[in-house]
Amino acid sequence: MSVGIPISALWPQPSAQPLDDAALAGLYGRADRPHLRVNFVASVDGAVAVDGYSAGLSGEPDKRVFGLLRMLCDALVVAAGTLRHEGYRAVRLDERRRAWRREHGLPEYPTLVVVSGSLDLDPAQAAFADAPTRPVVLTRSDAAAPPGLTDVADVVRCGDGRVDLAAGLAELRRRGFDQLLCEGGPRLFGALTAADLVDEVCLTVAPLLAGAGPGRITAGDASEVRHLPLRHVLAAADGVLMLRYARD
Ligand SMILES: NC(=O)c1ccc[n+]([C@@H]2O[C@H](COP(=O)([O-])OP(=O)(O)OC[C@H]3O[C@@H](n4cnc5c(N)ncnc54)[C@H](OP(=O)(O)O)[C@@H]3O)[C@@H](O)[C@H]2O)c1
Repeated sequence: MSVGIPISALWPQPSAQPLDDAALAGLYGRADRPHLRVNFVASVDGAVAVDGYSAGLSGEPDKRVFGLLRMLCDALVVAAGTLRHEGYRAVRLDERRRAWRREHGLPEYPTLVVVSGSLDLDPAQAAFADAPTRPVVLTRSDAAAPPGLTDVADVVRCGDGRVDLAAGLAELRRRGFDQLLCEGGPRLFGALTAADLVDEVCLTVAPLLAGAGPGRITAGDASEVRHLPLRHVLAAADGVLMLRYARD
């Protein structure tokens, strides 16, 4: 693959050369136990979006790592709000990344998992209708599924009155999805943090000041402060930083 904007390691071990995809995949890796990784992009002043969308924060280096993280996971967890707002399409990987997955004994595509309390979901949305593997929807026991949703997704009910995320993640692991990648959004991240379910955060910092207005990458009820050690710092030649934090 032609590498566009070079990405280099700064810390803990500076790289002499820009990192190719194999080196990047090695730096992020797959954990040797069940693991929830969360991936976000933010501005220097902490904004989750520009003009309402994450696209305004994300450039080529972020998209490259975003795709690599999808390649590395068993299931891709996304909140219904982000799925609806960002118009998620089916999770597709290019042939090179599918080949990597085959070589590592994984299905060609990760499974999409949508978290929704209301089940206000459109079964015709490409994320469901065109999915290469049947998506899973985590919801609560009393939510009414819209017509057609169970034709295109497994609806898993965990929790009365609200989605019990710990029970939902346990069910995903029972289905063999040990390596989970959460792409947000902020309210789901806030709830996962409050439930102490986050093992890792990959944060891309775009060299932009978005100003007041947009929210943070986390939202919802306050939760306990937790230490999350820094594991690596990468820098792209356009000034984008890629930080990886993970607990022991
Ligand atoms: N910068 C980034 O990397 C990044 C990443 C993702 C999203 N975003 C941005 O974030 C914004 C969307 O945020 P949002 O406020 O809609 O938050 P969100 O967390 O994406 O979605 C909230 C919705 O998801 C479902 N949900 C989330 N947590 C849940 C929980 N614990 N239990 C049950 N359902 C849960 C609910 O759906 P129901 O209504 O169906 O019950 C809820 O209304 C957009 O502007 C998007 O561009 C940015």
